Amino acid sequence: MPDFADVSAGTAKLTMQMTESGRWPTEASAALYERARRSITDGTSRDTLLRTGGHPIYVDHGEGAWVTDVDGNRYLDCNNNFASIIIGHADPTIAAAVQARMARGTAFSFPNDSEVDLAELLCGRVESFEFIRFCNSGTEAVMAALKAARAYTGRPKVIKVEGAYHGTYDHAEASQSPNPTNWGDATAPSTVRYAAGTPASVEDEVGIISFNDAEGARAAIRRSGDQLAAVLLDVMPNRVGMPAIESEFISAIRETTREVGALVVLDEVISFRLGYGGAQTNMGIDPDITTLAKIIGGGFPVGAIAGRQGPMETFVRVAGNRAKVPSGGTFAANPITMTAGHAAMTLLDRDAFARLDTIGENIRSGLRSIFDRAGLNWQVTGAGSLFRVHPHHRTIRNYRDSHLSSDEIVEITEFGRRMQSRGVYLIAEGLGCVSLATSDDDIEHFLGAAEASLPSP
Ligand SMILES: Cc1ncc(COP(=O)(O)O)c(C=O)c1O
Repeated sequence: MPDFADVSAGTAKLTMQMTESGRWPTEASAALYERARRSITDGTSRDTLLRTGGHPIYVDHGEGAWVTDVDGNRYLDCNNNFASIIIGHADPTIAAAVQARMARGTAFSFPNDSEVDLAELLCGRVESFEFIRFCNSGTEAVMAALKAARAYTGRPKVIKVEGAYHGTYDHAEASQSPNPTNWGDATAPSTVRYAAGTPASVEDEVGIISFNDAEGARAAIRRSGDQLAAVLLDVMPNRVGMPAIESEFISAIRETTREVGALVVLDEVISFRLGYGGAQTNMGIDPDITTLAKIIGGGFPVGAIAGRQGPMETFVRVAGNRAKVPSGGTFAANPITMTAGHAAMTLLDRDAFARLDTIGENIRSGLRSIFDRAGLNWQVTGAGSLFRVHPHHRTIRNYRDSHLSSDEIVEITEFGRRMQSRGVYLIAEGLGCVSLATSDDDIEHFLGAAEASLPSP
């Protein structure tokens, strides 16, 4: 069993040796989890932290691209709080801006200038952002966007992509995780309710299409016709496997929604990290409404709905009366989030996105070379600062192509565990993302850990 020195590739960042079982000691994390289980259901407020099995790792602090846990283990952070950290942890510019703002108070029932600054910055970057409105999470943003689409069109139905994750709103969750026993016909997938307690009406109100199936999308949109409020789309859905989106699929959705009078709600909660003006600017997409979250909060809780004036006016009070879609929240657009978001987005200039593309490409191509050298039939998808490893070589165009067998789940989970024990913290199931703080040495560390974490032949 190699110890850390074999894979540190010169960074010498980690201090602990593996235990004989090949894992680092994480006793302090285990003890905290034990305590947590006595007062928090399942021991944590975040379902996603238990997806990799075992007890979660409790964080002590982060700095740049690295995180240190409560046992003193250090990890190259390729999770970045589920793709919300993009500059790096504890960035001094963001920290200074937030500290200065905190000294003036943290939350008020008054609007603040930082909200206007961040709104102007974002609307200045993206053509389709005629107006914007802030909330506290991506889930809230997606929920508000779908309510706005329904209010604007006066129609009840939504169509979304099979396997795509859009947060925890009932309609957005539909078919986010179906399996061969319930997913139905590939050309007209079933709507599968996700949580127990989801109203049965979701099955009538949400239609499902397969990613990159242009013909299927056209047919589904036309079938829903004058009942359809919107198609909800993420151009690089990670749970679909992050395949490249085909331009024919995008144009099928855009053209056919216009034909039937429905909207496109583009979920850029993650894909906004793909470029200076988000994925929509890179790809020339013209959505009616966009949902944002994660990076635009500079490390603080955030969400936003942005878009064309027409649908965004559903949030506007009419002659002093309530809006069609009243929206707000105690902490919506709070000054701390708005300040951090503005500082982070200002740091994210075009050069920063070019650097993120380079780091991501080095990780993806490095992984491909490692798999080739090892004669392993694995593949890597992703773009910009995002990547996903698949423990198979099937062509991936949609959720069903990337859906893993139980053996493949074991293989990729074991790969993730071995990466973790070698000081790399991924998201789950081979998914990862990098921050701007990732150095060339860090990339070397990542690839060294990956090479040492492959399954034995
Ligand atoms: C594409 C997408 N939409 C929406 C959400 C929900 O965002 P939040 O976790 O801020 O509620 C996520 C979260 O990962 C996401 O990836």
